[in-house]
Amino acid sequence: MTTANTSEPFSETRIVTRRLHERPDDSWTIDGALASGAYDSLRQVLAQGDPSAVQAEATASGLRGRGGANFSTGQKWSFLPKDTFPRYLVVNGDEGEPSTFKDRMLLERDPHQLLEGIVIASYAIQCNLAFIYVRGEFALGHDRLMRAIADARAKGFIGKDIQGSGFDLDVVVHRGAGAYICGEETALLESLEGERGMPRLKPPFPAIEGLYAKPTVVNNVETLSTLPHIVRMGGEEYAKLGMARSTGTRVCALSGHVKRPGNYEVEFGCTFRDIIFGLGGGIRDDNALKFFLPGGASFQWLVEEHLDEPYDMDHAAQKLGTSLGSGAVMVFDETTDPVRVAWRLAKFYSHESCGKCTPCREGTGWVEKILYRILHGYASPEDFEMVCDVADNISPNFMAAPFNQTTLCPLGPSVASPIASLAKYYRDEIIERIAAQQAEVPA
Ligand SMILES: Cc1cc2nc3c(=O)[nH]c(=O)nc-3n(C[C@H](O)[C@H](O)[C@H](O)COP(=O)(O)O)c2cc1C
Ligand code: SF4
Repeated sequence: MTTANTSEPFSETRIVTRRLHERPDDSWTIDGALASGAYDSLRQVLAQGDPSAVQAEATASGLRGRGGANFSTGQKWSFLPKDTFPRYLVVNGDEGEPSTFKDRMLLERDPHQLLEGIVIASYAIQCNLAFIYVRGEFALGHDRLMRAIADARAKGFIGKDIQGSGFDLDVVVHRGAGAYICGEETALLESLEGERGMPRLKPPFPAIEGLYAKPTVVNNVETLSTLPHIVRMGGEEYAKLGMARSTGTRVCALSGHVKRPGNYEVEFGCTFRDIIFGLGGGIRDDNALKFFLPGGASFQWLVEEHLDEPYDMDHAAQKLGTSLGSGAVMVFDETTDPVRVAWRLAKFYSHESCGKCTPCREGTGWVEKILYRILHGYASPEDFEMVCDVADNISPNFMAAPFNQTTLCPLGPSVASPIASLAKYYRDEIIERIAAQQAEVPA
């Protein structure tokens, strides 16, 4: 079957991915990075000598965190209590969200851009020690980061009296050990402190009481990699890119049944069609699109009628009941069994649940088991309603209010998203499927 879905060719807007495209052979080396302007923004910031001006630029840029929660970066920094020191910057490079692979690329192919962003952010918030938490599986990213830190230190961009400014910053790298939950900022802090990675009750938020109970900012790799460009362009100029409160660009990790999967940097305000068809080349074998996950694995799915919706954080949350989350778009064609996808996601959440709260610890496992029954032909007629009921216990009124939770953190409620998506688009199909399974059961 040939799909009617098409799009005009569409171009990326390359800001944080510019260097790695322009210098594919040496973008990660100190020489390659310096030759294309690395650390110029840092020099500018240090020459200006006003940390609050950097904060003001970040706020003016409208930058919102690229780790998934979409929170304003400038605002987050402003929550730090004025006179409490030491304070820390923690860089979230755990990137465990299924189908998300943009931070890995930024670490592997432009570690100096990240380091420059880290020093700028540390200067802005006046911290002298930054921690980089890197996903354990990122072997190449880790090696290149370590090399980049050594080279940046040798050139005086990290360490004591950076570029003669009097500002000191040391950097500590910590490798994760494979738990998805350690990407959640407070579980990450626990893990950094050597504890088991389990989320903390909030408040207090990390800005008030974070790492070692000190004020802490946690920022994502892409968020920090954007800072040198905000300094270079000026916050207001950066804010002209994008749409409404979704300013700038986003590195979108496109995967699944598209012809050209990969990381694409897009300006907010483009459409899902631009991403999936204009950049991704459309659906493999020219099949029909079945559904797509617009922001990683944790949010409600969208279908063909949503292709022309704008790629905008607030529009996604308020109008579509979903989220652009981690920046990943996962595409599925007509050959896909949606129950299998939902089951596979539930299996992931059940496996990754830290077990601290009952609705998530018990509920994710039950969702997995019930979906498995439907998938393998031995479900009971009441099973679909039962799985909806379990989801409702984790995320009350999950169909209409997708961000509710009875849990400490959003991991548990994530399992309600595939259930809501099945119920929205495939309920009748699933009820019929269960009925047909029943008919096949010998009397
Ligand atoms: C279960 C879970 C996993 C998460 N994993 C990541 C991750 O791998 N990387 C990341 O940057 N943020 C992740 N987050 C979001 C972080 O808690 C936090 O919001 C983010 O690191 C803040 O940085 P930002 O403001 O720059 O986005 C996760 C959140 C949850 C609930
Ligand atoms: S929701 Fe799940 S992962 Fe999050 S704290 Fe509770 S049990 Fe742990």
